[in-house]
Amino acid sequence: MRKKLLGALLSVAMVASMLVGCGSKAEPAAADSAAPAATEAAPAADAGSDTAEKTGAGKKVGVAMPTQSSERWINDGANMKAKLEELGYEVDLQYAEDDVQMQVSQIENMIASGVNCLVIASIDSGALVNVEEQAKAAGIPIIAYDRLLMDTDAVSYYATFDNKGVGTAIGEYIKEAKKLDEAKANGESYTIEFFMGSPDDNNAHMLYAGVMEVLQPYLDDGTLVCKSGRTSFDDTCILRWSQETAQQNMENYLTGFYADEKLDIACTAFDGFAYGCKAALEGAGYTVGEDWPLITGQDAELMATKNIISGYQTMSIYKDTRLLADKCVTMVQAVLEGKDPEINDTEQYNNNKIVVPSYLCTPVAVDQSNYKEIIVDGGYYTEEQLAE
Ligand code: BGC
Repeated sequence: MRKKLLGALLSVAMVASMLVGCGSKAEPAAADSAAPAATEAAPAADAGSDTAEKTGAGKKVGVAMPTQSSERWINDGANMKAKLEELGYEVDLQYAEDDVQMQVSQIENMIASGVNCLVIASIDSGALVNVEEQAKAAGIPIIAYDRLLMDTDAVSYYATFDNKGVGTAIGEYIKEAKKLDEAKANGESYTIEFFMGSPDDNNAHMLYAGVMEVLQPYLDDGTLVCKSGRTSFDDTCILRWSQETAQQNMENYLTGFYADEKLDIACTAFDGFAYGCKAALEGAGYTVGEDWPLITGQDAELMATKNIISGYQTMSIYKDTRLLADKCVTMVQAVLEGKDPEINDTEQYNNNKIVVPSYLCTPVAVDQSNYKEIIVDGGYYTEEQLAE
Protein backbone atom coordinates (compact mmCIF):
# COMPACT_ATOMS: atom_id res chain seq x y z
CA MET A 1 0.00 0.00 0.00
CA ARG A 2 2.61 2.43 1.22
CA LYS A 3 4.93 1.41 -1.58
CA LYS A 4 2.19 2.15 -4.10
CA LEU A 5 1.50 5.52 -2.58
CA LEU A 6 5.17 6.34 -2.60
CA GLY A 7 5.44 5.15 -6.19
CA ALA A 8 2.62 7.46 -7.13
CA LEU A 9 4.22 10.36 -5.31
CA LEU A 10 7.52 9.62 -6.97
CA SER A 11 5.98 9.59 -10.42
CA VAL A 12 4.44 12.96 -9.69
CA ALA A 13 7.88 14.13 -8.59
CA MET A 14 9.44 12.69 -11.74
CA VAL A 15 6.93 14.39 -13.98
CA ALA A 16 7.56 17.58 -12.04
CA SER A 17 11.27 17.18 -12.53
CA MET A 18 10.81 16.67 -16.28
CA LEU A 19 8.79 19.85 -16.39
CA VAL A 20 11.51 21.53 -14.40
CA GLY A 21 14.06 20.34 -16.94
CA CYS A 22 12.13 21.93 -19.80
CA GLY A 23 11.19 25.10 -17.97
CA SER A 24 13.32 27.88 -16.72
CA LYS A 25 13.73 28.28 -13.00
CA ALA A 26 13.06 25.38 -10.70
CA GLU A 27 11.42 26.89 -7.69
CA PRO A 28 11.14 24.36 -4.88
CA ALA A 29 7.86 22.66 -5.69
CA ALA A 30 7.41 21.22 -2.25
CA ALA A 31 4.01 19.75 -2.99
CA ASP A 32 5.50 17.55 -5.70
CA SER A 33 8.05 16.05 -3.41
CA ALA A 34 8.02 12.45 -2.25
CA ALA A 35 8.65 13.79 1.22
CA PRO A 36 5.19 13.68 2.71
CA ALA A 37 3.78 16.91 4.04
CA ALA A 38 6.71 18.76 2.56
CA THR A 39 4.63 21.84 1.92
CA GLU A 40 4.33 22.59 5.57
CA ALA A 41 7.71 21.10 6.32
CA ALA A 42 9.94 24.04 5.60
CA PRO A 43 11.22 25.76 8.70
CA ALA A 44 10.95 29.52 8.78
CA ALA A 45 13.43 30.74 6.19
CA ASP A 46 14.80 33.32 8.62
CA ALA A 47 15.70 35.76 5.91
CA GLY A 48 17.32 38.20 8.31
CA SER A 49 16.48 41.80 8.92
CA ASP A 50 14.87 44.14 6.40
CA THR A 51 17.71 46.53 6.82
CA ALA A 52 20.42 44.18 5.53
CA GLU A 53 22.81 45.99 3.24
CA LYS A 54 22.12 45.10 -0.39
CA THR A 55 25.74 44.33 -1.14
CA GLY A 56 24.73 41.71 -3.67
CA ALA A 57 22.82 44.05 -5.97
CA GLY A 58 23.65 43.46 -9.61
CA LYS A 59 25.21 40.06 -8.93
CA LYS A 60 23.76 36.67 -9.64
CA VAL A 61 24.33 33.41 -7.74
CA GLY A 62 23.56 29.99 -9.20
CA VAL A 63 22.46 27.49 -6.57
CA ALA A 64 22.49 23.86 -7.77
CA MET A 65 20.67 21.45 -5.43
CA PRO A 66 20.44 17.67 -5.82
CA THR A 67 16.76 16.78 -5.43
CA GLN A 68 13.37 17.72 -4.10
CA SER A 69 12.57 14.11 -3.25
CA SER A 70 13.79 14.66 0.27
CA GLU A 71 12.61 17.50 2.41
CA ARG A 72 15.95 18.73 3.65
CA TRP A 73 17.10 19.94 0.23
CA ILE A 74 13.87 21.85 -0.25
CA ASN A 75 14.61 23.65 3.01
CA ASP A 76 18.25 24.21 2.06
CA GLY A 77 17.31 25.74 -1.28
CA ALA A 78 14.59 27.94 0.20
CA ASN A 79 16.92 29.20 2.94
CA MET A 80 19.78 29.94 0.55
CA LYS A 81 17.50 31.78 -1.86
CA ALA A 82 15.89 33.88 0.87
CA LYS A 83 19.17 34.84 2.49
CA LEU A 84 20.92 35.70 -0.77
CA GLU A 85 17.95 37.74 -2.00
CA GLU A 86 17.92 39.58 1.29
CA LEU A 87 21.41 40.78 0.43
CA GLY A 88 20.29 41.87 -3.03
CA TYR A 89 21.67 38.97 -5.06
CA GLU A 90 19.67 37.55 -7.92
CA VAL A 91 19.35 33.79 -7.39
CA ASP A 92 19.00 31.00 -9.93
CA LEU A 93 17.95 27.98 -7.84
CA GLN A 94 17.82 24.64 -9.67
CA TYR A 95 17.04 21.10 -8.54
CA ALA A 96 18.30 18.14 -10.60
CA GLU A 97 16.13 15.37 -9.11
CA ASP A 98 19.13 13.10 -8.59
CA ASP A 99 19.84 13.09 -12.33
CA VAL A 100 23.58 13.62 -12.71
CA GLN A 101 23.40 14.81 -16.31
CA MET A 102 20.60 17.22 -15.49
CA GLN A 103 22.77 18.78 -12.80
CA VAL A 104 25.67 19.12 -15.25
CA SER A 105 23.48 20.96 -17.76
CA GLN A 106 21.89 23.13 -15.10
CA ILE A 107 25.36 24.30 -14.04
CA GLU A 108 26.42 24.79 -17.68
CA ASN A 109 23.36 26.97 -18.18
CA MET A 110 24.17 28.96 -15.05
CA ILE A 111 27.68 29.60 -16.34
CA ALA A 112 26.33 30.60 -19.77
CA SER A 113 23.81 32.95 -18.16
CA GLY A 114 26.66 34.82 -16.48
CA VAL A 115 26.32 33.95 -12.79
CA ASN A 116 28.99 35.56 -10.59
CA CYS A 117 29.23 32.64 -8.16
CA LEU A 118 28.10 29.02 -7.97
CA VAL A 119 26.87 27.16 -4.90
CA ILE A 120 26.74 23.42 -5.55
CA ALA A 121 25.26 20.57 -3.53
CA SER A 122 26.31 17.76 -5.83
CA ILE A 123 24.64 14.51 -6.76
CA ASP A 124 27.80 12.81 -8.05
CA SER A 125 30.61 15.32 -7.77
CA GLY A 126 32.89 13.13 -9.89
CA ALA A 127 30.69 14.01 -12.85
CA LEU A 128 31.06 17.75 -12.27
CA VAL A 129 34.83 18.07 -12.74
CA ASN A 130 34.60 19.36 -16.32
CA VAL A 131 31.84 21.85 -15.68
CA GLU A 132 33.77 23.09 -12.65
CA GLU A 133 36.77 23.62 -14.93
CA GLN A 134 34.54 25.68 -17.23
CA ALA A 135 33.47 27.83 -14.29
CA LYS A 136 37.05 28.32 -13.24
CA ALA A 137 38.05 29.32 -16.76
CA ALA A 138 35.19 31.85 -16.75
CA GLY A 139 36.38 33.25 -13.40
CA ILE A 140 33.33 32.03 -11.49
CA PRO A 141 34.11 30.95 -7.93
CA ILE A 142 32.44 27.83 -6.53
CA ILE A 143 31.27 27.06 -3.00
CA ALA A 144 30.61 23.41 -2.10
CA TYR A 145 27.35 23.10 -0.18
CA ASP A 146 26.94 20.21 2.29
CA ARG A 147 28.65 17.67 -0.02
CA LEU A 148 32.34 18.03 -0.85
CA LEU A 149 33.19 18.59 -4.51
CA MET A 150 35.84 15.99 -5.26
CA ASP A 151 38.80 16.01 -7.63
CA THR A 152 38.80 19.71 -8.44
CA ASP A 153 40.80 22.79 -7.49
CA ALA A 154 37.99 25.07 -8.69
CA VAL A 155 36.25 25.11 -5.31
CA SER A 156 36.98 27.97 -2.89
CA TYR A 157 35.14 27.02 0.31
CA TYR A 158 32.97 24.27 1.76
CA ALA A 159 30.00 24.74 4.12
CA THR A 160 28.78 21.53 5.72
CA PHE A 161 27.99 19.66 8.90
CA ASP A 162 30.61 17.61 10.67
CA ASN A 163 29.99 14.53 8.57
CA LYS A 164 32.07 12.09 10.57
CA GLY A 165 30.45 13.62 13.65
CA VAL A 166 27.05 12.60 12.26
CA GLY A 167 28.27 9.01 12.17
CA THR A 168 29.76 9.02 15.65
CA ALA A 169 26.57 10.63 17.00
CA ILE A 170 24.52 7.78 15.49
CA GLY A 171 26.96 5.18 16.84
CA GLU A 172 27.06 6.75 20.29
CA TYR A 173 23.28 6.93 20.38
CA ILE A 174 23.02 3.18 19.74
CA LYS A 175 25.78 2.48 22.26
CA GLU A 176 24.02 4.47 25.00
CA ALA A 177 20.44 3.48 24.22
CA LYS A 178 21.25 -0.22 24.15
CA LYS A 179 23.81 0.03 26.98
CA LEU A 180 26.29 -1.94 24.93
CA ASP A 181 28.99 -2.01 27.60
CA GLU A 182 26.58 -3.47 30.13
CA ALA A 183 25.29 -5.93 27.56
CA LYS A 184 28.86 -6.97 26.83
CA ALA A 185 29.62 -7.49 30.52
CA ASN A 186 26.48 -9.62 30.85
CA GLY A 187 27.24 -11.63 27.72
CA GLU A 188 24.12 -10.29 25.98
CA SER A 189 23.86 -9.35 22.33
CA TYR A 190 21.69 -7.37 19.93
CA THR A 191 21.03 -7.94 16.26
CA ILE A 192 21.76 -5.03 13.91
CA GLU A 193 21.59 -4.21 10.19
CA PHE A 194 23.16 -1.27 8.38
CA PHE A 195 21.77 1.06 5.71
CA MET A 196 24.51 3.44 4.60
CA GLY A 197 24.52 6.37 2.17
CA SER A 198 25.31 6.81 -1.49
CA PRO A 199 28.82 5.77 -2.62
CA ASP A 200 29.15 8.87 -4.84
CA ASP A 201 28.61 11.14 -1.81
CA ASN A 202 31.74 11.81 0.27
CA ASN A 203 29.50 12.44 3.29
CA ALA A 204 28.31 8.84 3.20
CA HIS A 205 31.85 7.49 3.56
CA MET A 206 32.59 9.83 6.45
CA LEU A 207 29.36 8.95 8.19
CA TYR A 208 30.16 5.24 7.87
CA ALA A 209 33.63 5.82 9.32
CA GLY A 210 32.06 7.62 12.30
CA VAL A 211 29.47 4.90 12.92
CA MET A 212 32.07 2.15 12.80
CA GLU A 213 34.52 4.03 14.98
CA VAL A 214 31.97 3.52 17.75
CA LEU A 215 30.29 0.23 16.82
CA GLN A 216 33.03 -1.91 15.22
CA PRO A 217 34.43 -3.06 18.61
CA TYR A 218 30.97 -4.35 19.57
CA LEU A 219 30.64 -6.19 16.27
CA ASP A 220 34.08 -7.69 16.84
CA ASP A 221 33.30 -8.92 20.35
CA GLY A 222 29.84 -10.24 19.47
CA THR A 223 27.76 -7.72 21.46
CA LEU A 224 26.32 -6.65 18.11
CA VAL A 225 25.38 -9.39 15.68
CA CYS A 226 24.74 -8.59 12.03
CA LYS A 227 23.02 -11.70 10.75
CA SER A 228 23.18 -10.71 7.09
CA GLY A 229 26.93 -10.32 7.51
CA ARG A 230 26.72 -7.03 5.62
CA THR A 231 28.78 -4.58 7.61
CA SER A 232 31.23 -3.10 5.09
CA PHE A 233 30.49 0.21 3.37
CA ASP A 234 30.41 -1.50 -0.03
CA ASP A 235 27.87 -4.04 1.19
CA THR A 236 25.56 -1.56 2.89
CA CYS A 237 25.74 1.61 0.79
CA ILE A 238 22.60 2.61 -1.10
CA LEU A 239 22.99 4.43 -4.41
CA ARG A 240 21.47 7.95 -4.55
CA TRP A 241 20.11 7.53 -1.02
CA SER A 242 17.10 5.56 -2.34
CA GLN A 243 14.29 4.96 0.14
CA GLU A 244 12.93 2.14 -2.02
CA THR A 245 16.26 0.30 -2.00
CA ALA A 246 16.43 0.64 1.78
CA GLN A 247 12.96 -0.86 2.04
CA GLN A 248 13.88 -3.70 -0.31
CA ASN A 249 17.09 -4.42 1.57
CA MET A 250 15.20 -4.50 4.85
CA GLU A 251 12.55 -6.82 3.38
CA ASN A 252 15.29 -9.14 2.17
CA TYR A 253 17.09 -9.10 5.51
CA LEU A 254 13.90 -9.81 7.45
CA THR A 255 12.88 -12.75 5.30
CA GLY A 256 16.40 -14.08 4.82
CA PHE A 257 17.85 -13.74 8.31
CA TYR A 258 15.25 -12.80 10.88
CA ALA A 259 12.59 -15.46 10.60
CA ASP A 260 13.50 -16.93 14.01
CA GLU A 261 15.05 -14.02 15.80
CA LYS A 262 13.95 -10.38 15.82
CA LEU A 263 15.96 -7.48 14.49
CA ASP A 264 16.89 -5.16 17.38
CA ILE A 265 18.61 -2.25 15.60
CA ALA A 266 18.35 -0.67 12.15
CA CYS A 267 21.35 1.62 11.86
CA THR A 268 20.36 3.89 9.00
CA ALA A 269 22.11 6.98 7.65
CA PHE A 270 19.06 8.91 6.45
CA ASP A 271 15.45 9.60 7.43
CA GLY A 272 14.37 8.32 4.00
CA PHE A 273 15.97 4.95 4.84
CA ALA A 274 14.15 4.94 8.17
CA TYR A 275 10.84 5.38 6.30
CA GLY A 276 11.74 2.44 4.04
CA CYS A 277 12.66 0.31 7.06
CA LYS A 278 9.41 1.28 8.79
CA ALA A 279 7.39 0.09 5.80
CA ALA A 280 9.28 -3.21 5.63
CA LEU A 281 8.94 -3.82 9.37
CA GLU A 282 5.21 -3.10 9.28
CA GLY A 283 4.92 -5.53 6.39
CA ALA A 284 6.71 -8.16 8.46
CA GLY A 285 4.37 -7.66 11.42
CA TYR A 286 6.61 -5.74 13.82
CA THR A 287 4.70 -3.54 16.29
CA VAL A 288 5.69 -0.31 18.01
CA GLY A 289 5.91 -0.78 21.77
CA GLU A 290 6.41 -4.53 21.39
CA ASP A 291 9.17 -5.71 19.10
CA TRP A 292 9.87 -2.53 17.09
CA PRO A 293 13.65 -2.09 16.65
CA LEU A 294 15.73 0.98 17.41
CA ILE A 295 15.83 2.92 14.13
CA THR A 296 18.25 5.76 13.47
CA GLY A 297 18.06 8.45 10.78
CA GLN A 298 19.47 11.73 9.60
CA ASP A 299 18.03 15.20 8.89
CA ALA A 300 15.18 15.34 11.41
CA GLU A 301 12.70 15.84 8.59
CA LEU A 302 9.18 16.77 9.64
CA MET A 303 7.94 13.25 8.90
CA ALA A 304 10.84 11.73 10.82
CA THR A 305 10.22 13.97 13.79
CA LYS A 306 6.57 12.90 13.79
CA ASN A 307 7.71 9.28 13.60
CA ILE A 308 10.00 9.87 16.55
CA ILE A 309 7.07 11.20 18.55
CA SER A 310 4.92 8.20 17.62
CA GLY A 311 7.73 5.70 18.20
CA TYR A 312 8.22 4.54 14.60
CA GLN A 313 11.71 6.03 14.51
CA THR A 314 13.98 6.26 17.51
CA MET A 315 16.26 9.16 16.67
CA SER A 316 17.49 11.40 13.93
CA ILE A 317 20.34 13.82 13.40
CA TYR A 318 19.10 17.38 13.43
CA LYS A 319 20.88 19.63 10.97
CA ASP A 320 19.78 23.25 11.16
CA THR A 321 19.73 24.13 7.47
CA ARG A 322 19.21 27.81 8.38
CA LEU A 323 22.63 27.86 9.99
CA LEU A 324 24.26 26.09 7.05
CA ALA A 325 22.72 28.59 4.64
CA ASP A 326 24.03 31.45 6.80
CA LYS A 327 27.55 30.07 6.69
CA CYS A 328 27.37 29.46 2.98
CA VAL A 329 26.17 33.00 2.32
CA THR A 330 29.20 34.38 4.17
CA MET A 331 31.34 32.33 1.78
CA VAL A 332 29.56 33.77 -1.25
CA GLN A 333 30.16 37.25 0.15
CA ALA A 334 33.79 36.40 0.77
CA VAL A 335 34.52 35.34 -2.78
CA LEU A 336 32.52 38.19 -4.33
CA GLU A 337 33.31 41.02 -1.96
CA GLY A 338 36.76 40.11 -0.72
CA LYS A 339 35.60 39.40 2.82
CA ASP A 340 36.87 36.66 5.13
CA PRO A 341 34.34 33.96 5.89
CA GLU A 342 34.52 32.12 9.18
CA ILE A 343 36.34 28.80 8.73
CA ASN A 344 36.73 26.14 11.40
CA ASP A 345 38.37 23.27 9.54
CA THR A 346 41.39 23.40 7.29
CA GLU A 347 42.39 19.75 7.50
CA GLN A 348 39.65 17.19 7.06
CA TYR A 349 38.28 17.93 3.63
CA ASN A 350 40.91 16.92 1.12
CA ASN A 351 39.15 16.41 -2.21
CA ASN A 352 42.15 14.65 -3.83
CA LYS A 353 43.33 17.95 -5.33
CA ILE A 354 43.25 20.46 -2.50
CA VAL A 355 42.26 20.72 1.14
CA VAL A 356 39.11 22.85 0.98
CA PRO A 357 38.75 25.45 3.74
CA SER A 358 35.54 24.49 5.48
CA TYR A 359 32.99 25.53 8.05
CA LEU A 360 31.51 22.54 9.87
CA CYS A 361 28.19 23.06 11.62
CA THR A 362 27.44 20.77 14.55
CA PRO A 363 24.90 17.97 14.09
CA VAL A 364 22.71 17.13 17.08
CA ALA A 365 21.07 13.80 17.91
CA VAL A 366 17.35 14.19 18.61
CA ASP A 367 14.86 11.75 20.07
CA GLN A 368 11.69 11.82 22.18
CA SER A 369 13.60 13.25 25.13
CA ASN A 370 14.92 16.42 23.49
CA TYR A 371 13.05 17.17 20.27
CA LYS A 372 10.92 19.82 21.99
CA GLU A 373 13.90 21.70 23.31
CA ILE A 374 16.01 21.43 20.16
CA ILE A 375 13.50 21.46 17.34
CA VAL A 376 10.40 23.21 18.65
CA ASP A 377 12.05 25.75 20.95
CA GLY A 378 14.70 26.27 18.26
CA GLY A 379 11.90 27.39 15.93
CA TYR A 380 12.53 24.72 13.31
CA TYR A 381 9.07 23.14 13.43
CA THR A 382 6.07 24.27 15.43
CA GLU A 383 4.04 22.02 17.74
CA GLU A 384 1.19 22.50 15.26
CA GLN A 385 3.22 21.16 12.34
CA LEU A 386 4.22 18.17 14.41
CA ALA A 387 0.66 17.51 15.51
CA GLU A 388 -0.85 17.49 11.99
C1 BGC B 1 23.48 14.88 3.51
C2 BGC B 1 22.44 14.31 4.45
C3 BGC B 1 21.28 13.73 3.67
C4 BGC B 1 21.74 12.84 2.54
C5 BGC B 1 20.59 12.39 1.67
C6 BGC B 1 23.86 13.85 2.49
O1 BGC B 1 24.82 14.34 1.64
O2 BGC B 1 24.60 15.31 4.23
O3 BGC B 1 22.00 15.30 5.33
O4 BGC B 1 20.48 12.97 4.54
O5 BGC B 1 22.71 13.51 1.75
O6 BGC B 1 19.95 13.45 1.06
